[in-house]
Amino acid sequence: MPLNDAPLLRALAGDRPDTTPVWFMRQAGRSLPEYRDLRVGTRMLDACLTPDLAAEITLQPVRRHKVDAGIFFSDIVVPLRLAGVEVEIEPGRGPVFASPVRTAADVDRITAIDPASLDTTQIAEAVRLVVAELGDTIPLIGFAGAPFTLAAYLVEGGPSKEHLRARAMMHTDPDSWNRLAGWLARISRTFLDAQRAAGASAVQLFDSWAGSLSPADYRAFVAPHSAAAVDGIDAPVIHFGVGTGPFLADMRLDGRADAVGVDWRLPLDEAVAVLGDDVTVQGNIDPALLTAPWPVLEAHVRDVLRRGTAARAHILNLGHGVPPETDPSVLTRIVELVHEVGAESVASGAAR
Ligand code: CP3
Repeated sequence: MPLNDAPLLRALAGDRPDTTPVWFMRQAGRSLPEYRDLRVGTRMLDACLTPDLAAEITLQPVRRHKVDAGIFFSDIVVPLRLAGVEVEIEPGRGPVFASPVRTAADVDRITAIDPASLDTTQIAEAVRLVVAELGDTIPLIGFAGAPFTLAAYLVEGGPSKEHLRARAMMHTDPDSWNRLAGWLARISRTFLDAQRAAGASAVQLFDSWAGSLSPADYRAFVAPHSAAAVDGIDAPVIHFGVGTGPFLADMRLDGRADAVGVDWRLPLDEAVAVLGDDVTVQGNIDPALLTAPWPVLEAHVRDVLRRGTAARAHILNLGHGVPPETDPSVLTRIVELVHEVGAESVASGAAR
């Protein structure tokens, strides 16, 4: 079977394969005991830059859950580390920067680094190892952080709830903001291009914190930079954000997104009413329900599948990442259910 027939890639092209493709954001990581074992003694960003380790961690959830795609194990701040920016990921907290980028002079300094100069050797090597192992049935999704979500960490210097400093910069010094966001778009693009060139079949742009923006600010200060990050890339694009309901149609990036990721707050059929019928939707199991009794979770998954039929095509996923405390057998069971539902509807000849 050529890889283009893989359910994920067919769904991104707007087809409805027999079974709805399913994968999970953060499917690799702390919910898996085999991941926790491998990570002992290695810092997160060092693991990301060790090709055989990153490859093995990427493959673990594919083997265990039989998901329809791998997502490259890395992090949105890896290309910043490759650019020489001092960043660490603190366990339980997230990315932390030694020097926050807050003033026009800070922006001058960081944007003097040429995004084309990044050494992506380890990234490319890890992707090649993964793709060789996945073969021609399971596609690998490459990813990068969208400029706003990266800036939300970089301007603050670490994780924050409301990303006030990044949002303030848009209005206090729009020129610095646009230079910074434009540079971050090129940094993320370098990271995406490296993954694509090494064999990733699709890419996802994560704008996890875009939901803290007003629609007006999203349109004026963020969407153009996110669009630049994926413009003209020769791979299908999934664009994901949390809390983006108020400006969901803008998440299409003027047709550059082949699929839009929807969080758990907005039922998929309502999302489709806003997005239109010429884009694929991805989502949106509520991560909170992963701890619910199976019959409750099963009913929710079936409801998500039913609502997803409103779209031209649907990729089943969570509304955000797998929480670290998730029982991984629950994820395996969701994959089995989604594949069974597809097989049942083929057997019954149900019109889809
Ligand atoms: O399985 C996958 O989804 C692939 C790998 C992946 C990671 N980070 C691994 C990771 C992906 C796609 C990301 C993207 C990422 N990183 C995002 C966007 C997605 C999202 O969840 O919204 C964001 C906001 C980050 C920044 C970041 N990195 C955070 C907030 C954290 C969590 C900190 C913590 O310990 O709770 C990280 C670290 C991180 N990235 C981990 C993993 C598996 C956990 C680190 C560990 O295991 O020690």
